[in-house]
Amino acid sequence: MSVAALLDQLWRDYTSLTPQAARIHALLAARGETIRNDHVALRTFDALGLDALAAPFEALGWEARERYRFADKHLHARYWQHPDPALPKVFISELCIDELPADARVRIARLLAQIPADFAITPWAGRPWRVTRADYEALLEVSEYAAWMAAFGFHVNHFTVDAGALSTFAGLAELDAFLVASGFTLNDAGGTIKGTPAEGLEQSATRADAIDVELADARVRIPSCYYEFARRHAGFQGFLPASADKIFESTDAKRKRQS
Ligand code: NI
Repeated sequence: MSVAALLDQLWRDYTSLTPQAARIHALLAARGETIRNDHVALRTFDALGLDALAAPFEALGWEARERYRFADKHLHARYWQHPDPALPKVFISELCIDELPADARVRIARLLAQIPADFAITPWAGRPWRVTRADYEALLEVSEYAAWMAAFGFHVNHFTVDAGALSTFAGLAELDAFLVASGFTLNDAGGTIKGTPAEGLEQSATRADAIDVELADARVRIPSCYYEFARRHAGFQGFLPASADKIFESTDAKRKRQS
C-alpha cells in the first residue's frame, strides 16, 4: 500500500462515520484552502496493543515517538511521525482495561473473547464483536472511550486539520468563528481553544456527529467522531495531555460540560 492509498483509506473510513468532516473539508476547499493534516487518531484496548494499529504506518516510514499517560481517562498513548513533514502524525491511544471497575472489565472481556482468531486488526477493521445496548450504556457510565470502542471497534477516531497551513485564517479563533457561523458545534470543554502558543499547540474540535449504529439488540443514535483543528508554534511536534484530555470529550455521549 502506498502512503497516498493508506491516507485515502483512512479518510474514506473516517468520513463514512463523520459526515461533518467531509462537509467542513469541502467548505475550506471552496475558500481555496489546500488542507494538510496535523494528525490522525486511532483508539484500541490495551489488551490488543498499539502495534497492530501502528503496523501499516511503520511499514511506510512513520517512526514511533513520545509516549503519554492520561490517568483520568485510563489511557496510554503514543505518536508516530513521518520524515516527510507534510504527512500527518499518527496518535494511537489504548484503554487500560485493568483500571476499570469489575463490571466494565467483564463486559469488555466478553467483547474481546468474540474476536475471531483470523481477524486482522487494521485502523479500519470495524467491530469484530456483538455488543448489546446494555453493554454500551453500562460502559458509558464508567468510560466514554470504552463505550465508543465497544460500539464502533476499529475506525479512525479523528482527523486533525493543520490550521497553521491554512492561508485564509489568521488563527484558530478565526477558523472556529467560521465553523460556528457555518452551523457546526464546537467542543467547549475546557474552553473552545485548548492549549496556548506558549505551550506550542492550540487545538479545537467539533462536537462529534451522532449517527445510527446497529447494536446486537437495538439501533441507537450515538456520537461517532469529531473533526479537530491544531495550530502548532515554535516547532513543537508533540501533544499536550491536559488539552487532549478535554478534546477526548468531543465524543462524550453525555455531553458533560466541564470547566
Ligand atoms: Ni487529536
